[in-house]
Amino acid sequence: MMDFEPTELADVLAKNEHGDSLISVLEEIQTQYRYLPQDAMILVSERLGVSLSQVYSVATFYHAFSLMPRGEHTIRVCTGTACHVRGAVQVLSRLETKLGVRPGGTTGDRQFTLETVNCLGCCALGPVVVLDDEYEGQMTPKKVDKFLKRAMRQAGGER
Ligand code: FES
Repeated sequence: MMDFEPTELADVLAKNEHGDSLISVLEEIQTQYRYLPQDAMILVSERLGVSLSQVYSVATFYHAFSLMPRGEHTIRVCTGTACHVRGAVQVLSRLETKLGVRPGGTTGDRQFTLETVNCLGCCALGPVVVLDDEYEGQMTPKKVDKFLKRAMRQAGGER
């Protein structure tokens, strides 16, 4: 995971100085850093001549943007009713313990962001956990350990 370097933004800003939208600049920054660092938003505001509050209002309006650092991988736990009654809380709690983060949090090595969702549309498989786009049904706290081992192996293999 890259840390924010103002010099790296020069190209993005230069490309977008002539008429491209604030959104496309923010999209490029989000793609590069997986979130919108505060310093980057200040720089964007100065260079594009847009107020900082306008930059923030766009950044917070779209779900695609994150103001917090995000992990390379996202683990989503469904806590909708069907998954809840089948033990999603225990599954989530196990993931929180193993990863050392609460929902919305990202691990210190920026590998994983943990999130909860309300329903993934596959209630019959509940409790459901998703690693990026891979769905895993009938999760139990015990299965979480295996799931995480595999997730870490995949994450490690990508480096
Ligand atoms: S409630 Fe979990 S998939 Fe629908």
